[in-house]
Amino acid sequence: MTAHLEVAEGVGTIRLDRPPMNALDIATQDRLKELAAEATRRDDVRAVVIYGGEKVFAAGADIKEMQAMDHAAMIARSGALQESFTAVARIPKPVVAAVNGYALGGGCELALCADFRIAADNVKLGQPEILLGLIPGAGGTQRLARLVGPSKAKDLIFTGRQVKAEEALAIGLVDRVVPAAEVYEQAHAWAARLAQGPAIALRAAKESIDAGLETDLDTGLAIERTWFAGLFATEDRQRGMRSFVEEGPGKAKFV
Ligand code: CAA
Repeated sequence: MTAHLEVAEGVGTIRLDRPPMNALDIATQDRLKELAAEATRRDDVRAVVIYGGEKVFAAGADIKEMQAMDHAAMIARSGALQESFTAVARIPKPVVAAVNGYALGGGCELALCADFRIAADNVKLGQPEILLGLIPGAGGTQRLARLVGPSKAKDLIFTGRQVKAEEALAIGLVDRVVPAAEVYEQAHAWAARLAQGPAIALRAAKESIDAGLETDLDTGLAIERTWFAGLFATEDRQRGMRSFVEEGPGKAKFV
């Protein structure tokens, strides 16, 4: 298997494992979709980390595999490629990418599917597809522009240049930079903290933000208030409010 799910402390780690560069061939893309479904389904997974191992996050789709594909073959495949990444983006739990080494092309696009990106100080991110005569095909033109704005996205996608940690942090492409040796540990710790939170409220927050960004303000507000009212049916809401009244803020234990 070129990727698997490891679960510890309520955190499921989607671990890419296709040395040397974690090139995302079709089998790995399909596997990612399966693992996203497993992480979504399993109650013992309350937050997720995406990690490529000690050296590299992922250097993109497998160029050697794609070289043999023609227009018709890619028409047939491109929907499934996007679906795999969208399955990761739609995991209804907090998802943290632990990004180190190279995160290029589909690797950068996979990191964009997470809610937060913790980067190693040795990271190099980019969308180099233009250097292959292509554009990003796993969501990069859409998710990168939504995250960093259209002109930065066009800069990166038009030039294919690689962005180091400091610039990635400055433009909001990553959220935190840590020493390379700590990137997984820090991402896991962050996810483990979120895994203690109220699962349904976290899902409501994620779905409201993500769905709201794709629509007009009134529709977004309707999505928010529907979820907000719905959360009054949860045991976590009762526990949260009771704990506040009896013990003060921030002490609730959620189920
Ligand atoms: N696909 C297939 N093989 C890849 C690969 C990829 N994306 N990236 C690296 N490899 C292979 C190399 O061909 C090489 O294989 P061999 O040992 O058999 O020659 C091996 O991995 C090691 O790579 P390098 O020797 O190139 O290592 P390096 O340290 O000199 O460079 C790198 C590392 C900068 C990541 C460089 O390999 C590189 O530029 N890779 C391609 C990055 C890229 O263009 N990604 C976009 C792919 S297209 C895409 O992702 C489309 C989409 O939107 C979904």
